[in-house]
Amino acid sequence: MYTLPRTLIRLCLLGAVALAQEPGILTPPPGPKPKINGAKVYGARPGHPFLYTIPATGTRPMTFSTKGLPKGLKLDAPSGRIAGAVARKGDYAVTLRAKNAAGSAERKFKIVIGDTLALTPPMGWSTWYNARVAISDAMVRAQADAMVSSGLVQHGYAYVNIDDGWNIKPGSTDPAIGGPARDEKGDLRPNQNFPDMKGMCDYVHGKGLKIGIYIGPGPLTCAGFEASYGHEEQDARQFAAWGFDFLKYDLCSYQKLIKDPKNPEEHKKPYRLMGEILRKLDRDFVFNLCQYGRGNVWEWGREVGGHFWRTAGDVGGGWNNVARFGYGQAGMEKWAGPGGWNDPDNINIGHIFQRGAGGGKLAPTTLTPNEQYTWMSLWSLMAAPLVFGGDMTKLDDFTLNILTNDEVIDIDQDTLGKQGAPVSKTGDLEVWARDLEGGSKAVGMFNRGEQEAEISARWSDLGLTGSYVVRDVWRQKDLGKFENEFKAKVGRHGVALVRLTRAR
Ligand code: GAL
Repeated sequence: MYTLPRTLIRLCLLGAVALAQEPGILTPPPGPKPKINGAKVYGARPGHPFLYTIPATGTRPMTFSTKGLPKGLKLDAPSGRIAGAVARKGDYAVTLRAKNAAGSAERKFKIVIGDTLALTPPMGWSTWYNARVAISDAMVRAQADAMVSSGLVQHGYAYVNIDDGWNIKPGSTDPAIGGPARDEKGDLRPNQNFPDMKGMCDYVHGKGLKIGIYIGPGPLTCAGFEASYGHEEQDARQFAAWGFDFLKYDLCSYQKLIKDPKNPEEHKKPYRLMGEILRKLDRDFVFNLCQYGRGNVWEWGREVGGHFWRTAGDVGGGWNNVARFGYGQAGMEKWAGPGGWNDPDNINIGHIFQRGAGGGKLAPTTLTPNEQYTWMSLWSLMAAPLVFGGDMTKLDDFTLNILTNDEVIDIDQDTLGKQGAPVSKTGDLEVWARDLEGGSKAVGMFNRGEQEAEISARWSDLGLTGSYVVRDVWRQKDLGKFENEFKAKVGRHGVALVRLTRAR
């Protein structure tokens, strides 16, 4: 991120020179007037339950209205929730409107009723990086509450995803999670921390949000809980009956069943099986493949029914992995697009679980501000799912500024769905670009080095000629018209994220 002279001077006077290169909050706070945010296109299957909350910032109370909603859908005017089911396939051009005491806003939105879900990268939250297996019904409800009260929902975050640890751990002596893993009918038993799965799903839907569940194709999950091997269809039907909208399917113990890792069919098999089952259910399930990138999953994730697929192992919360997983996506852009996305794992900032004495604890990220700006910028340029891994009940202003900049999110959610790629590399300095709808380009100028440096985004590398308006996306400010190149000073591990639009 580029340096702020005034901050620099102030911090120097305070003696905090090391911090001088690190920016503070750059995202302007939302104004009082309504502003509709998030994706501009949304896919659902015919006849299945439909739920979409219009993401909008601005003072409440706010009243929503729509034009062109397909038959079968109804809007709840005070909350902006659209629900129902659409029987007929088709592309429906809708206008979304929001009004409050300060003004009104309008936005075009396309509802596509057909076979493809996740037309833009899914946005949400997951339990794994903030709670590990210490999860419960009460914490999931509290996090869903916080997704609304923190305002995340106003920027398009929608999925509340439960990861490992919700059901029975065979052999465990802990009465809360031990006992028979399945009932007499062979159905999965949730553990004592999840007394009412259907009630919990209803609760989350009642907030206008969606809810995700986790299991694996092997006999056990990664943390040793019961998984779906031999019960795939029964388990999927159970998830649908409870009301889930999303499944993360984690390879783990199935790895032992893959005899020839060089044979892509062996990698595909368990995912194809579950993909076909989910496709036949009477609910829409976003299907998240988690097998750490084995067998080049990006080449076939879509073919087996996946909507996003992890491209590597667990990113955790440290800078080395963020850089390795993020920049390591170069070359995978060919396989991403509407309906299927590369997933370098969650965005783990704010309060996350950190290993340490006594088994670890929830603590603030150790990443610098620049590193956090880079994380969000890189994921957005790569059209990665935006799944926040921190505790939503402990969000601070800085973390919210990273997660809720609507112009950054617009890059991630761009309707073309074209994943960005590097266009130039000079030592530690990399320029990445992404084509956006309407002909503009998002450009990330990244400094992977240890010292502040000047980075140049050259039109010749970007395939551009002529005059372009350069907009600083994090500050949401136009910087002027430029020809041939744009240069910025970028601090250690930082980024300048800009949008280039042809000057009139
Ligand atoms: C890992 C997976 C993580 C998390 C964990 C749960 O294999 O990559 O994202 O789901 O298992 O045990």
